Amino acid sequence: MENIVLIGFMGTGKTSVGKRLAKHLGWDFLDTDLAIEEISGTSVSEIFRKHGETRFRSEETVLVKRLKERKKMVIATGGGTPLNPENWEAFTEIGIIISLYAPIDTILDRIGGKNDRPLLREGRDEAQKLWLSRQPIYNQADLIIDTTELDIDEVANEILGKI
Ligand code: S3P
Repeated sequence: MENIVLIGFMGTGKTSVGKRLAKHLGWDFLDTDLAIEEISGTSVSEIFRKHGETRFRSEETVLVKRLKERKKMVIATGGGTPLNPENWEAFTEIGIIISLYAPIDTILDRIGGKNDRPLLREGRDEAQKLWLSRQPIYNQADLIIDTTELDIDEVANEILGKI
């Protein structure tokens, strides 16, 4: 296993769990959203607002392809990153794909008022539709962790026990 790729819907804890895992393993951590923000010098929501989702998605794919060269890295992806088959293909080459699962209401509770995600601004029904439409993709991961009743450390420990 050369790297760990964390996928899952927004608010499932990919970034927090990824940091924790990287610390335990002594590996590097990379969050694709943050990397795109650093490279472009602007926030994900600004990219969506100024240039649209298509532009963000192409920046994501450029970045994901570059990650193929890396080793010993925990990668937290954006919720939509695995939807592009090119990205999925790259993930299978990069390492083990681990999906973090949580029901939509748990996710909305966790995110609470501080919602800076452009794709979660339309209310619960739209969020649920998006969540439902993505489950078949997330379910193709090598490992699926149900995070509903777990805190960050428990999720990280469960992963460490299974890999
Ligand atoms: C997105 C998820 C976000 C970010 C962007 C789009 C998505 O990342 O990439 O707002 O399509 O689900 P997080 O899953 O880290 O919130």
